[in-house]
Amino acid sequence: MEFNPNSYQNMQYRQCGKWGLKLPVISLGGWQTVGGYENAGEARKVFYAAFDAGITHFDFANNYGRPAGNGEIEGGKILQDLPRDEIIISSKAGYYMWPGPYGEWGSRKYIIASCDQSLKRMGVDYFDIFYHHRPDNNTPLEETHGALETLIQQGKVLYAGVSSYSPEMTEDAVKLREKKNWFPITIHQPVYNLLNRWIESGLVQNAAKNGYGIIAFSPLAQGLLSDRYLNSTPADSRFGVQGKDKVLTELDWAKIKGLNEIAQERGQSLAQMALSWILRLPEVTSVLTGVSRMEQLEDSLKAIDHMTFSSDELDAIERVLAWQ
Ligand SMILES: NC(=O)c1ccc[n+]([C@@H]2O[C@H](COP(=O)([O-])OP(=O)(O)OC[C@H]3O[C@@H](n4cnc5c(N)ncnc54)[C@H](OP(=O)(O)O)[C@@H]3O)[C@@H](O)[C@H]2O)c1
Repeated sequence: MEFNPNSYQNMQYRQCGKWGLKLPVISLGGWQTVGGYENAGEARKVFYAAFDAGITHFDFANNYGRPAGNGEIEGGKILQDLPRDEIIISSKAGYYMWPGPYGEWGSRKYIIASCDQSLKRMGVDYFDIFYHHRPDNNTPLEETHGALETLIQQGKVLYAGVSSYSPEMTEDAVKLREKKNWFPITIHQPVYNLLNRWIESGLVQNAAKNGYGIIAFSPLAQGLLSDRYLNSTPADSRFGVQGKDKVLTELDWAKIKGLNEIAQERGQSLAQMALSWILRLPEVTSVLTGVSRMEQLEDSLKAIDHMTFSSDELDAIERVLAWQ
């Protein structure tokens, strides 16, 4: 395969907190877009175009795809055409993957077996980042994180991450790893977007204190923060197909339209502004978006051209988000 020799010039890279690992400010995930959801040919084209544009980080998990696992199988086939040393591949374990008591959550048994399965499905020898996908209140952190450390020691994982942990649990995990002399948590993957700002009360501050990076998943609120939904829900959209828009209120729609007006005044699409807005925080290393077609990738990539906000723009966004 021939790729754009100038790809790296187009992208900006940020360090994961204080660590040497750099990620592109826009990363690409395969949940609901790779492996049984969207057209496989389009996914391949999108991933290659992303790499050509300097996106070096691709995110998966054991349970992605239909059936679960197919996301990694199809994603692995695509990524094998990219130079392995130039990309960062992540996967995760935590959600339900196989029947019985060992197929989900955070036991040592599950984490290690799941990582081995994921490596096979993706056809790679190691993951650059491997996450505990969700908190497990019934398994001691020592067990889950001991399993992540074993994977690191075995050379199957380079960096350990956590996803959706509260600030308190993250702090406990950081402290534990420090005490045990295990390689520290490098990255946290929480949901964060204009409509879900939970990380602002604690997690962002914890990341700054402990020096790990944040990669924000669902930065477009699964597509809502785009101009696709301004007039109606398109039948071929994620919300249209899955009927998810039923839970949205008139106020939600009004806010989305209000945000779109601010984006237009900035000369951006709503999706571009939503991505740029997340990247205003220095603690955020990358936004982890999903793309179901090429024009969405092309649109979202332009977020990089306009990442700064005036205080008036930030105030205007706050005012819209505060509407009641
Ligand atoms: N750690 C976790 O628990 C967790 C949970 C969820 C996701 N993730 C990770 O985060 C990644 C991204 O999540 P996500 O797919 O929910 O992210 P997202 O970026 O919020 O939503 C992606 C969807 O938005 C729409 N879209 C994307 N770019 C657009 C554009 N420029 N204009 C208009 N519409 C656009 C598309 O929807 P349509 O296809 O409907 O057009 C696309 O499928 C996943 O692939 C996964 O790697 C992690």
